[in-house]
Amino acid sequence: MALRTITERGAEILTKQCKTVKEITPRIRELCDDMIDTMKAADGVGLAAPQVGVMKRLFVAMPHVDSDDESIQDKIYVMINPEITYAEGTQESSEGCLSVPGYMGLVDRPQKIRIKATDLEGNENEFEFEGFPATVMCHEYDHLDGILYCDIAKDFMTSEEYLNRLKEIEEEYADEETAK
Ligand code: NI
Repeated sequence: MALRTITERGAEILTKQCKTVKEITPRIRELCDDMIDTMKAADGVGLAAPQVGVMKRLFVAMPHVDSDDESIQDKIYVMINPEITYAEGTQESSEGCLSVPGYMGLVDRPQKIRIKATDLEGNENEFEFEGFPATVMCHEYDHLDGILYCDIAKDFMTSEEYLNRLKEIEEEYADEETAK
């Protein structure tokens, strides 16, 4: 197990278009293993290669952490050369990023997506994700095109401000409900 250093906003690599993975070499496998360890150690739900300084089109993700189905909460996806093949609907997502510590934002994302990618065995698979897992996949996918969520967020502020605002909205909503 090896942890890699997470690149932070301001680093040029986070703004670059990443390159297609041509072959799944032992180095790519090692990179993916390290990225999984690094993601878990940082308490993240996704990590893209440019976030550890590698300009390749691949990311790892644990998009089901909040699922009601315990059997899939730990499921890890290794997505090599991913491609979003279908998107439907919209949702507002509260997002953060390991490369932008201390901040959160609100982003419009598709409600449902299909995404295909190659795994470490070289097999191409297509998956469907909806709700939060779809957000995770879109967020990580954007990293491969040099896009950070804060570049496209409707609202972007410190985590403290963001969480306070969410609380205010919830309280207003609760008051409205009571007033009815
Ligand atoms: Ni991110």
